[in-house]
Amino acid sequence: NTKVILLLLKKTVLILCLLVSVGILAQENLPRDPLARGTSYISASYVKYLEAAGARVMPIRINRTEEEYSQIFHSINGLLLPGGDVDLLKSEFSRAAKIFYNLALKANDAGDFFPVWGTCLGFQQLSVLTANEDLLTVTNTTAVALPLTFKPAAKTSRLFQSFPKDLLQSLSEENITSNFHLWSLSVQNYSRSAKLKRFYKILSTNNNGKLEFISTMEATRYPFYAVQWHPEKSQFEWVDKPGMVHSSSAIRASFHTASFFVSEAKKNHHHFSSVAEEERVLIYNYSPVYAGFKTIFVECYYFD
Ligand SMILES: *[C@@H]1O[C@H](CO)[C@@H](O)[C@H](O)[C@H]1NC(C)=O
Ligand SMILES: *[C@@H]1O[C@H](CO)[C@@H](O)[C@H](O)[C@H]1NC(C)=O
Ligand SMILES: *[C@@H]1O[C@H](CO)[C@@H](O)[C@H](O)[C@H]1NC(C)=O
Ligand SMILES: *[C@@H]1O[C@H](CO)[C@@H](O)[C@H](O)[C@H]1NC(C)=O
Repeated sequence: NTKVILLLLKKTVLILCLLVSVGILAQENLPRDPLARGTSYISASYVKYLEAAGARVMPIRINRTEEEYSQIFHSINGLLLPGGDVDLLKSEFSRAAKIFYNLALKANDAGDFFPVWGTCLGFQQLSVLTANEDLLTVTNTTAVALPLTFKPAAKTSRLFQSFPKDLLQSLSEENITSNFHLWSLSVQNYSRSAKLKRFYKILSTNNNGKLEFISTMEATRYPFYAVQWHPEKSQFEWVDKPGMVHSSSAIRASFHTASFFVSEAKKNHHHFSSVAEEERVLIYNYSPVYAGFKTIFVECYYFD
């Protein structure tokens, strides 16, 4: 009877929403990576970071057609643009990021809900895509741990509202956010860009002693989030460098960023065409390569 069918349908939709797959975009191999294979990589820390919050990961390879990216877009529930070191205007990473960014804008405008997260280079890539130009400046904030300077918008932000109060206090008082970026988006350049100001709210800033730069922002009208710092490093990277923090508050902060993002990804019904398709493309099909504790990434996945 209809009641039972409706109930079954509801259950199926619920199950679909709980099985979340997040895409992570690969990027061109680092030029001097001795272990590199193929053409692109994803640091395993981003994979574990999302998995620890209950998502499955699909690696998204660079140098694919727009049609392929569009099909992937409708299969995954969210996208993470990771950190790294590639050109924000000319790389294959930036080309794919732009395609997904535009698909996400369009989908959200049409009433869908598709979240995008940018970390470090991913943050910078989002700023370039929104501003339609590169407004970054050198701050030389490589290998330094900083506390966040929260801005008034943080209080009512979707991202930080989901954090426990004592954790917000830790984030504002303890040096627990890992910064590994030469470039930053200054508050000054953000304020001068009508496009950026209209699109993002500044949730936190930091200062390199000379210049205030944005460390966390979220879009006003879209489920887009960007952190210039590295939540995934605290749990999963072990290079012995200043700026690396493994304290329990740093690890809790990391988990809460991932957990928040995965909960956002649960809000849409994107799914793979079949379980077989899903099994074929998820990260489980690949093995990471262990590089040791002296490298910036302990383990990386490499792709052709
Ligand atoms: C992939 O890379 C090759 C070699 O650089 C290039 O010729 C081709 O156009 C690229 N394809 C796409 C879809 O970007
Ligand atoms: C603003 O952006 C320009 C690039 O358009 C850059 O050269 C400059 O250093 C930036 N200034 C600040 C203060 O961020
Ligand atoms: C960045 O800082 C390091 C050490 O603090 C210094 O050696 C380097 O020259 C600086 N680079 C730039 C581009 O300012
Ligand atoms: C913590 O960060 C602040 C900058 O906000 C800096 O002045 C201070 O030296 C840092 N402390 C440590 C122990 O790194």
